[in-house]
Amino acid sequence: MNRRILITGASRGIGRAIAEKLADSDVTLLLHGRDTVALAETCKAVQSHCAGVVKLIHDLATEKGVANLISEVGGDPLNVLINNAGIAVVKPFREVTLEEWKQTLGVNVTAPFLLMQRFVAQMPPGSSVVNILSIAAQTGFANWSTYCMSKFALEGFSQSVRDELRERRIRVLNIYPAATNTEIWDDVMGDWPREKMISANEVASAVAYALSRPENVAVENITLSNAAGNL
Ligand SMILES: NC(=O)c1ccc[n+]([C@@H]2O[C@H](COP(=O)([O-])OP(=O)(O)OC[C@H]3O[C@@H](n4cnc5c(N)ncnc54)[C@H](OP(=O)(O)O)[C@@H]3O)[C@@H](O)[C@H]2O)c1
Repeated sequence: MNRRILITGASRGIGRAIAEKLADSDVTLLLHGRDTVALAETCKAVQSHCAGVVKLIHDLATEKGVANLISEVGGDPLNVLINNAGIAVVKPFREVTLEEWKQTLGVNVTAPFLLMQRFVAQMPPGSSVVNILSIAAQTGFANWSTYCMSKFALEGFSQSVRDELRERRIRVLNIYPAATNTEIWDDVMGDWPREKMISANEVASAVAYALSRPENVAVENITLSNAAGNL
């Protein structure tokens, strides 16, 4: 049976690593991003390993972008929805602009809300929603207020949705990575030891593990900490 898997933010970083990990002969990957060149690279890396690849280019910061993504994905049911796209605004909270606040809410919270609301209706029993949260969904950190706000919000939302979806046997699997070496850090102020961070591949392995369990088993929460202490 062909499985349809939608991954948002698959153009780079953790999303690309997940796409590479989940590519299989019975899988059609619906890969979303904004950067057409980077997304094409992900598609090229996976297309010979899976049944099909669909490239979806939309800005998830806007309701229109999310609506266009939904309409392009179409009415065929998804077996897995992976809410991975995300942004990090890192600065003292007094310097955060309203635009940055709205942008973060849009990409990190409202888009997953709209995608879950639209797609779970068609998802068959045994399907899964995967949310790429963060250790910042559980703990606040100085200068990360806007990011933590968004991850805490998605955490509360997804815990509640998980309970609503139990009767339909749809699993909600939440992943909480510590600092992971991806391009998200390129624009974060400060001196962050990228070489000490965990890899995107490790996060992707955790996602693949959770999805690989029998349909009656939900590996609901996976926290990936840094063995040497979080950075
Ligand atoms: N890296 C970490 O330390 C870390 C730790 C814990 C959790 N996470 C979470 O993991 C997820 C992936 O992060 P990453 O580290 O892989 O970051 P990344 O390398 O910067 O990739 C972010 C992805 O999100 C997409 N994206 C960003 N803004 C978007 C927008 N407005 N509309 C549509 N797509 C947008 C990007 O698309 P384009 O580049 O094509 O625009 C890209 O594919 C995020 O939810 C992040 O919060 C990351």
